[in-house]
Amino acid sequence: SKAVTVTTLSAQRAAGEKITMLTCYDASFASLMDRCGVEVLLIGDSLGMVCNGHHSTLPVTLQEVAYHTAAVARGAKSALIVADMPFGSYGTPEQAFNNAVQLMQAGAHMVKIEGGAWLGDTIRFLTERAIPVCAHIGLTPQSVHQLGGYKVQGKTTESAEQLKADALAVQAAGASLVVIEAIPTALGKEVTETLHIPTIGIGAGPDCSGQVLVMHDMLGVFPGRKARFVRNFMDGATSIDAAISAYVSAVKDGSFPALEHCF
Ligand code: KIV
Ligand code: NA
Repeated sequence: SKAVTVTTLSAQRAAGEKITMLTCYDASFASLMDRCGVEVLLIGDSLGMVCNGHHSTLPVTLQEVAYHTAAVARGAKSALIVADMPFGSYGTPEQAFNNAVQLMQAGAHMVKIEGGAWLGDTIRFLTERAIPVCAHIGLTPQSVHQLGGYKVQGKTTESAEQLKADALAVQAAGASLVVIEAIPTALGKEVTETLHIPTIGIGAGPDCSGQVLVMHDMLGVFPGRKARFVRNFMDGATSIDAAISAYVSAVKDGSFPALEHCF
């Protein structure tokens, strides 16, 4: 099928067709997910945890993300490929640009960075230089030590206002996509309705423009504690292929996420 681009995603948002995204770290899974119709493949820095056994995403290096990005890019035919910029790789606009170039040259079509309004200058710097950006707001795992753990964000009026301001700021700076992690459903809906760019939720309710999960979580192979927003799509599936297809169908028809996966 046809290549998925930023234009495809805006058109899907406008048409009310949900966007499907999964993390992916190698060529074989990239090929499988692509065949199942997953539109966006994310080389998440979650690779530090699910592939390498680290206890957070902080130890992940740019070289590791580039290595996995190149593998995914070789395996995928149509999907849009988004690569995470790891912890410490986008402290200034210039540093972000130099590092993002490495990921784009490895095969990414877009880079993802964690944070809101403070990233405005960086997002502008990257997008002016032809690097599309996905912002990641809400629960941002690279900030785990500052947040005091992996906690639902935007629960107070003040933090909800801050999250909305962050979403508007990253959009104004030129972001093409916003991942929103672990916030109340009502806030996910409000942000999605306020923005004109697509929102991709993970624990942000069913009203986002699309959904993302970590592949090891949705296939039930991650040994750690299962977050509330995770559904194991291997339950009732007879193959990995069927589980990925079930995920695509469930996101498209709005049956995932269900109430039990939301905050
Ligand atoms: O690294 C990752 O897997 C992510 C997703 C959870 C959005 O950033
Ligand atoms: Na990530």
